[in-house]
Amino acid sequence: MEFILTEEQLAVKEAAREFAQQTLLPGVIERDTHMTYPTEQVRGMAEMGFLGMMVSPEYGGGGMDTLSYVLAMEELSKVDNSCSVIVSVNNSLVCWGLETYGSEEQKKKYLTKLATGESIGAFCLSEPEAGSDATSQRTTAVDMGDHYIINGTKNWITNGGSSQIHLVIAQTDVEKGHKGINAFIVETDWDGVVIGAKEDKLGIRASDTHTILYNDVKVPKENRIGDDGFGFKFAMKVLSGGRIGIAAQALGIAAGAYELSVKYAKEREAFGKPISQHQAIAFKLADMSTDIEAARLMVYRAAWMKDNGLDYTSGAAMAKLIASDAAMKHTVEAVQVHGGYGFVKEYHVERLMRDAKITQIYEGTSEIQKLVISRNILKGTLYEPMWKPSNS
Ligand code: CAA
Repeated sequence: MEFILTEEQLAVKEAAREFAQQTLLPGVIERDTHMTYPTEQVRGMAEMGFLGMMVSPEYGGGGMDTLSYVLAMEELSKVDNSCSVIVSVNNSLVCWGLETYGSEEQKKKYLTKLATGESIGAFCLSEPEAGSDATSQRTTAVDMGDHYIINGTKNWITNGGSSQIHLVIAQTDVEKGHKGINAFIVETDWDGVVIGAKEDKLGIRASDTHTILYNDVKVPKENRIGDDGFGFKFAMKVLSGGRIGIAAQALGIAAGAYELSVKYAKEREAFGKPISQHQAIAFKLADMSTDIEAARLMVYRAAWMKDNGLDYTSGAAMAKLIASDAAMKHTVEAVQVHGGYGFVKEYHVERLMRDAKITQIYEGTSEIQKLVISRNILKGTLYEPMWKPSNS
């Protein structure tokens, strides 16, 4: 068992940490308060190569492993989760989905732009009445021979108003249930794509979350991803990888709040000594550190499973479940450590606490993660691929 990061992985982590501190930290409170989309910061992340980290260099990406991506997500998420969610959606849901399941023509036309940040992508699955129950798609894609006509509404779409490319999941044949669902690449400047209201959110307030309407949008047949009926499996496979990215975001939120708490506890004095010297606070730091380390091992393990070709469906679900719970619990604790200062924006922990909540909701709620894990337990497939040498 190996717990040492490579030189390359450490370099990625360090670069992301420095970028987060120097480029994301200034203005993060103002962007959050005014829901200002981080245009310049996204440009900076594109220049750093954060938007297509795992994409092959052939298509303009960094050719990195999932663990490097997770390390970068963790560092960015310690500071600015409106930015790190853009990185997560673009890398895990859009680029990875296209590179793994797209045709050569689709990759040439769309992937290079997405990997370099020339285009930003959005993943359009959720609907007003299809959130957790993703098979109940109401958006329709009618087969017209050489093209499809898409009609429907998508909700809570990250990058909704700032993306050029949407991956849209839609029902082509209702009789076939989930086997009648397809995924399509839609350009946002096509006729009939309407960007609806921007959401005013509890957390990740600077990220761009919209309702999207598709009104008779004509999509060429060559923009369908995979064989007819592959769309639901496409969405599930993409989301399994996405959950590793969101788990890394949750880990970063928890770790960021913890780092701020340690610093504050060493500086702030009460009753004649730093509050870190009071057991009430010292034990909180010990609990935070222990839970965060447990979550970190789960998140890195899920990335390792993906990089080693193992079935990571449950590993990703477990990592997201444990890391998002750690983020919620320990950001609340971080506010408590900071006392009155924790309740004001200047000290950053209240923002991290608000940001933590969405990690228990998007890319599958905690309840959905438990459903995924329990189904794999009952199928007997949970641990089978792991803990065995590949030649045994
Ligand atoms: N990989 C491959 N195939 C999968 C799969 C996976 N991880 N999970 C399910 N499938 C397959 C099943 O094998 C089944 O195929 P067969 O019939 O051929 O065997 C098919 O998909 C249907 O699966 P289920 O019968 O399990 O479907 P279900 O309706 O009972 O439940 C679910 C599926 C797991 C609950 C699913 O609906 C789900 O994951 N829901 C949550 C959706 C979600 O995560 N939404 C997030 C929105 S995107 C977002 O948040 C992005 C953002 O902007 C940040």
